[in-house]
Amino acid sequence: FLCPNGCVCFPDGGVQCTGAITDIPLLDASHTFRLSLNDTSLKVLKSQSLQPLILLLRFSITHSVLDTIHPEAFYSAPQLRSIKLSSNALSVLPPGVFRRLVNLEQLHLDGNQLVSLSPDMFEGLGNLTELDISKNQISQLDANTFQDMTSLYHLNLAGNLLRKLPQTLFHNLMQLKSLILTSNKLETLEEGSFDHLHNLLVLMLHKNQIQDLPPKLFWHMPSLLTLTMSGNQLSYLPAESLYFLPNLTKLTLYNNPLISLPDQLVGRMPRLKELYLYNTNLSTVPWNLFANMTGLMSLNLHINEKLTSLPRNLFCCLPNLLKLSLRYNSLQALQPDQFSQLTKLQILLLNGNMLQSLPARIFYNLPKLAKLELSNNYLKNLPGDTFLDLNSLQSVTLGHNRWDCTCSITGFVEWL
Ligand SMILES: *[C@@H]1O[C@H](CO)[C@@H](O)[C@H](O)[C@H]1NC(C)=O
Ligand SMILES: *[C@@H]1O[C@H](CO)[C@@H](O)[C@H](O)[C@H]1NC(C)=O
Ligand SMILES: *[C@@H]1O[C@H](CO)[C@@H](O)[C@H](O)[C@H]1NC(C)=O
Repeated sequence: FLCPNGCVCFPDGGVQCTGAITDIPLLDASHTFRLSLNDTSLKVLKSQSLQPLILLLRFSITHSVLDTIHPEAFYSAPQLRSIKLSSNALSVLPPGVFRRLVNLEQLHLDGNQLVSLSPDMFEGLGNLTELDISKNQISQLDANTFQDMTSLYHLNLAGNLLRKLPQTLFHNLMQLKSLILTSNKLETLEEGSFDHLHNLLVLMLHKNQIQDLPPKLFWHMPSLLTLTMSGNQLSYLPAESLYFLPNLTKLTLYNNPLISLPDQLVGRMPRLKELYLYNTNLSTVPWNLFANMTGLMSLNLHINEKLTSLPRNLFCCLPNLLKLSLRYNSLQALQPDQFSQLTKLQILLLNGNMLQSLPARIFYNLPKLAKLELSNNYLKNLPGDTFLDLNSLQSVTLGHNRWDCTCSITGFVEWL
């Protein structure tokens, strides 16, 4: 057998083809285990076109012009483990096209123009572990679409037009580890939607239109590591809604029109290292908001135009915090002992606020603080001993304030 024009045939049974190919090339059936057609002119996948390749396990047609798949295209290839049809021009799939593929583990249909899926499209795919249908135009899914996929680990539905999901859509996906729903049009989610996903590690809901969350939506995912909710339309979060997420390491809430947060929101979350809470409508936050995030190392509570004050003890329980950014809020004043428990803090950003003065000894007990930003405030004067306790200080920015350059500032100038 000669390796066909446009293809490279590898000794281990892999074949890669590219270019003006319009049909499945003629290959050595006794030695072809993987076939990938990338950037080709293949438009139609014909009936049983893989028939000669009885040993083929992995098949892909990507970045091509494929727009038609014959209903029996895969009938003669039940041994297939992987099919990737990413970045083509598919707008419909024939019902039952994957029906006999009981061994299939990986199916990628992302980057096409699919507008719907028939409810039995994935029937019988009990060995599937990875399904990617992202970047299509699917606006709704039948409740039974995924019902046979009891082995599924990864489900990617990002970049579609989903507005609503049937409450039982994910109920059989007991093995699921990651569920990506980013960049859809979801407005609401029903209570119980995620209740059976006990093994879920990653849940991505960012960039949707979600306006409110059912209170117990996240209560049954004890393994969850990553939860993203940024870029939605959330004005409020229900009390206790983040209570049972003891393993969470990443949480995003920024870019939401949040107006206020409840007093009891976050349960024990000792593994969370980084939090970003910006571009919201919060004017203040509950004093205990971060109290259960004892492992936090970087807290970015910044760029919240309406945030004018911070409660006392807000940073009470963050013994590991290294970076605190409060820049570009509208803070007018700070509490006298606002930072006094942040003994490991190295970076403190207070620039871009409306601070007219600082409480005496505001920076005491910050032995590790190396970088302090105070520029772009309304400061007129500071006592000469303001920075005296900061033994590790390496840089401080003070520009764009309203310094009162009279004798009243002598002590501070001497320190400088
Ligand atoms: C999974 O694949 C095995 C063979 O690899 C097969 O015996 C079994 O029937 C398949 N499971 C399902 C649920 O189809
Ligand atoms: C704050 O609320 C106003 C009015 O509801 C809205 O127009 C604005 O986009 C919100 N800001 C943010 C940052 O969400
Ligand atoms: C911290 O978490 C515990 C356990 O989930 C909970 O009982 C407590 O109320 C939480 N504290 C705050 C301030 O939310």
